[in-house]
Amino acid sequence: MYDKELFKDKIVLVTGGRSGIGYAIAQQMLGLGAKVTIASRKEEPLQKAAEELAAFGPCDYKACDIRQTEQIIALAKQIKERHGRLDILVNNAGGQFPALAEMINDKGWNAVINNNLNGTFFMSREMATHFFIPQEEGIIVNITANAHRGFPGMIHTGAARAGVENMCKTLANEWSRFNIRVNCVAPGIIESSGLDQYPPQVQSMFEAAKKAIPLHRFGTVEEVANAVSFLASPLSSYITGSTIYVDGAQHLNYDNMGLANTIRELMG
Ligand SMILES: NC(=O)c1ccc[n+]([C@@H]2O[C@H](COP(=O)([O-])OP(=O)(O)OC[C@H]3O[C@@H](n4cnc5c(N)ncnc54)[C@H](OP(=O)(O)O)[C@@H]3O)[C@@H](O)[C@H]2O)c1
Repeated sequence: MYDKELFKDKIVLVTGGRSGIGYAIAQQMLGLGAKVTIASRKEEPLQKAAEELAAFGPCDYKACDIRQTEQIIALAKQIKERHGRLDILVNNAGGQFPALAEMINDKGWNAVINNNLNGTFFMSREMATHFFIPQEEGIIVNITANAHRGFPGMIHTGAARAGVENMCKTLANEWSRFNIRVNCVAPGIIESSGLDQYPPQVQSMFEAAKKAIPLHRFGTVEEVANAVSFLASPLSSYITGSTIYVDGAQHLNYDNMGLANTIRELMG
């Protein structure tokens, strides 16, 4: 639906681009003319995904843990050597696990905050200092989650994503003088590889969850990619510091205690 040359020759980095939502974002941007690098921790599936994505356009990869600044710097070096610049960063990598707040120990809390909040900041800072600030141009799109009314059943990710959305507002202000736009896409429940990782008991509540969502279905990875492409393109040139919900209005009208109640039932 977008102009086939929307991202012609744009250099794009998609974290977590080997699977699910990140893969769909990489695929769409390649199809619209971008040169994409995907980055995540596990080298083998990352390489396989990059080889598949090459059918849509030039796709590089580099193993990188977004929690490790030295690995992010090595990733920036590879992009500089191969492309000389970076135009668009999509902070999509992340993960969490369902648990009631009182069950989460320090290790579990820190793991999710490190991944979803700290990793997003480290990646944004390094790509800005290596590319966007000296270039005086850049675009960041963060994938967050529907944490609009808290996140019962996943307090750690709710806190981390709210942190990313607040960070987005700060960076939209601070980095506007470098012509850097920063926005978020907050997916609701999206049919993707990420959902497969939840235990069967949580998956068994999905049909009821669909009924409760105003649009009565989960979203698709392509629908998330559509919003990312909009925010990463000149079509949104006057939008910065904002969040677009891709959630069928779930954030407005939904029993958001469903996940927490399911976990509580499982715990007896
Ligand atoms: N699916 C949904 O309903 C939904 C809803 C709201 C938000 N989200 C968020 O959207 C993003 C994509 O989700 P998805 O459904 O596509 O899940 P997914 O398939 O599990 O994708 C997560 C990706 O992030 C990478 N990753 C995780 N931790 C990383 C780290 N420390 N460093 C580098 N890469 C890392 C993973 O690769 P490695 O394991 O190889 O590192 C994987 O490629 C995630 O942030 C997710 O939390 C998803």
